[in-house]
Amino acid sequence: DTIFVLNGPNLNLLGKRQPHIYGHETLADVEADCRKLAGELGYDIRFHQSNAEHQIIDWIHEAREKAVGIVINPAAFTHTSVAILDALNTFEGAVVEVHISNVHKRESFRHHSYVSLRADGVIAGCGTLGYQLGLRSVVEKVAAAKE
Ligand code: DQA
Repeated sequence: DTIFVLNGPNLNLLGKRQPHIYGHETLADVEADCRKLAGELGYDIRFHQSNAEHQIIDWIHEAREKAVGIVINPAAFTHTSVAILDALNTFEGAVVEVHISNVHKRESFRHHSYVSLRADGVIAGCGTLGYQLGLRSVVEKVAAAKE
């Protein structure tokens, strides 16, 4: 089975971008950690990042056919994108939303998430470890749905 790990805008700069908020790990490091963990759990992953909203929507559509779950850090689109929420609402598997920073401790415009209206779980403020927590949670939700 396959899990999609999707990343929104500016996350290509992870490690260089506001490291006091987002840490020093790069997105390539996150991808390597996710691949290792997914392998241990017996899953394949597809790991993607885009700065373009339409590309993220297209990957969610692809996940409808190919994935049992999605881990998504929609980055700034979290707070703006009804279109990503609508796309996720067409997906039937498990969805876990991840934020590296604790969005609730930050500016008030980061406190609202469209994606949380669909997400089965939300992780915030655990740094890049949040991706691994998200992956574990998706795997558990997928297994529970099979029972
Ligand atoms: C983020 C939080 C968002 O508010 C922000 O726009 C991001 C990253 C996080 O991972 O903490 O780009 O999703």
